[in-house]
Amino acid sequence: MTVSQQMRQQSVVGQPLDRVDGRLKVTGQARYPADFPQENLAHAVVVQSTIASGRITSLETDAAEAAPGVLAVLTHHNAPRLRANPPSFAVGESTPPPLQDERIYYHGQHIALVIAETLEQATYAATLVNITYAAEPALLRLDDARAEISAAAFPDVVRGEPEAALEAAEVRVDQRYTTPTQHHNPMALAATIAGWDGQTLTLHDTTQSVFNTRARLAALFGLEIEQVRVLAPFVGGAFGSGIRPWPHVVLAAMATRHVARPVKLVLTREQMYTSLGYRPQSVQRVALGATRDGQLVSVIHEGSEPLAINDDFREGLTRATALLYSSPHLRTTYRQVRLNVAVPTWMRGPGESTGMFALECAMDELAYALRMDPIELRLRNESSVHPQSGLPWSSRGLRECYELGARSFGWERRPLAPRTMRAGHDLIGWGVASGFYPYNRQAAEARIVLRADGSALIQSGGTDIGPGTATILVQIAADVLGLPPERIRCELGDSAAPLSPNQGGSMLAVSLGSAVQATARQALEQALTLARDDARSPLRGASPAEVIATDGRLMLKSDPERGESYAELLRRHDPGEIVVEGRAAPGDEAQQFGTGIFGAKFAEVRVDEDLGRIRISRLLSVIAAGRILNHKTAASQINGGAVGGLGMALLEQTLMDTVSGRIVNANLADYAIPVHADIPPLEVLFVEQPDLALNPLGSKGVGEIAIVGIAPAIANAVFHATGRRLRHLPLSMEQLL
Ligand code: MOS
Repeated sequence: MTVSQQMRQQSVVGQPLDRVDGRLKVTGQARYPADFPQENLAHAVVVQSTIASGRITSLETDAAEAAPGVLAVLTHHNAPRLRANPPSFAVGESTPPPLQDERIYYHGQHIALVIAETLEQATYAATLVNITYAAEPALLRLDDARAEISAAAFPDVVRGEPEAALEAAEVRVDQRYTTPTQHHNPMALAATIAGWDGQTLTLHDTTQSVFNTRARLAALFGLEIEQVRVLAPFVGGAFGSGIRPWPHVVLAAMATRHVARPVKLVLTREQMYTSLGYRPQSVQRVALGATRDGQLVSVIHEGSEPLAINDDFREGLTRATALLYSSPHLRTTYRQVRLNVAVPTWMRGPGESTGMFALECAMDELAYALRMDPIELRLRNESSVHPQSGLPWSSRGLRECYELGARSFGWERRPLAPRTMRAGHDLIGWGVASGFYPYNRQAAEARIVLRADGSALIQSGGTDIGPGTATILVQIAADVLGLPPERIRCELGDSAAPLSPNQGGSMLAVSLGSAVQATARQALEQALTLARDDARSPLRGASPAEVIATDGRLMLKSDPERGESYAELLRRHDPGEIVVEGRAAPGDEAQQFGTGIFGAKFAEVRVDEDLGRIRISRLLSVIAAGRILNHKTAASQINGGAVGGLGMALLEQTLMDTVSGRIVNANLADYAIPVHADIPPLEVLFVEQPDLALNPLGSKGVGEIAIVGIAPAIANAVFHATGRRLRHLPLSMEQLL
């Protein structure tokens, strides 16, 4: 039996437990941010700019204010002056608060808010707001020579002499890859219900962090942190769009203070395309030089993306390239171009999913230039240490992912040459690509309550936007407390509960899971101390080290008959419960080790030879993310990411009119995302190597490694099927014809 099999046998952690909140969700009892009924609720609708650059010269609200049911119209004339943004919790976030002046930075900027008795009245009145603009020439194209280029975000990474080494290399590839703007499109519309009682601002908000929202609002409105409470017990997806508190959340807070009533603001699907960020488009160059036997000698990766005029968001577009493969010479360069576009943000494996599309397609091109198997090329360039820092890996597992995946996929049956496999009218291709996402962990806190009825409650302000965080927290606590999982409840998403990092960057399971584990240990310790010091307890005098907890019962290791249940113990005591707040934080392991989450993605495509129609017939994800906390929810995450990757590869693109700056397909009819009929059988395999150097759970997070590498694996499979190399996403029929 392997170590991980033993761990699984003995523990609840790892088991494919059903979601603890699954029943609540499918029976409609789980309440999402728009689902909290309020007395005397008013409705707010945003008005957005219809130019991309310039200023408002007049903004007439008389007709809107006179429309039936309208309570108020907020504009830069009458909106409260807010404090400048506080120092940002999130790197690069610097968008100024809304309705502070007449400047327009992008098409779709919020410029007024109509508040009315009903949604219909507010929606109608919003059409009556009369705006005139002084438009200025807008910068809308990445290649606009007038645009300011920002290099401040990430410094170039340089090793050796990459240009000279490329020039001298025996074999070279040097290509340009482009990816389009893409939007998160979570199923739920972004919603905020805000209430103000003169003292306290309370928000139900679609967010990945109630603490981010709380901090932002308190700072902007000059309130104490305790005067703001944010709740998000359930969130209907976000994919990165809920990490920041966006301007509409500030508008909802303004509105409730202005009309002294609770106000509900739900963005429309169309409005969400300019209000919640998006994955920025990219233009990338990857140049690889290698020896004839496939050793990389030079890697150059340059990428540029847009940057909003009024913000400094950046992502790690070229970040993975310096650490994925060993190469003595390397340069990565990331530039941003300031444009009159809405503010971009993190989306599904931000940085890596875009950057590694280019890198992993280029690796495939190099493999063909060398006439070498693409897996073999990658394995020849594996690095036993982190290629940039020289530190040993805490764990890596990429080689094992390729080996396991190749066996499972049947890779040895793959002819290297393209256009060699077919079924009837379809050309068949098999492609592969590496996945990587950084390992992240932050400090987190949790509260655990042990109750006299023998149950336990976990509370944290962390949010669960869908991956199953509550479920794995219950499993972690179940193991430590020796309680069956069905006796443990988990409440999340309340800023009045202990502090948690946001659910983003694949870090929450490990960050909050470690905190729950530490807190549960303290709770157990307190129960054992209580029993030891209790003359009526069968465990009186027993040192905690001699006692184990199983199935809700505390007992002597040496004599299981001697013991009692949590319920029996706590019923004898006042107040009949144990409440513990605990914390866990990372140490210096990230300075001692190279860290990261790795995966290998395998795709099989079928391309209709006449029509160029691309269908995916198999997708295999092999993931090395340390110990897997729940094999069911983790596999579900990986499958969800694979579907996102399929969308990225074949369907998703946001189109902007580069004259007006307007998004022309801001709806789910024209912005295509995968439907069930697009999804082939999905397979997930884990290379499970518990990584106890990183954290006490030995886990790494599976949120974003799920998507990274899917799109290049598909593009490489299309090449293998057709002999045609597509370097622009989404891959399309038009490009093949
Ligand atoms: Mo993720 S893009 O950090 O929600």
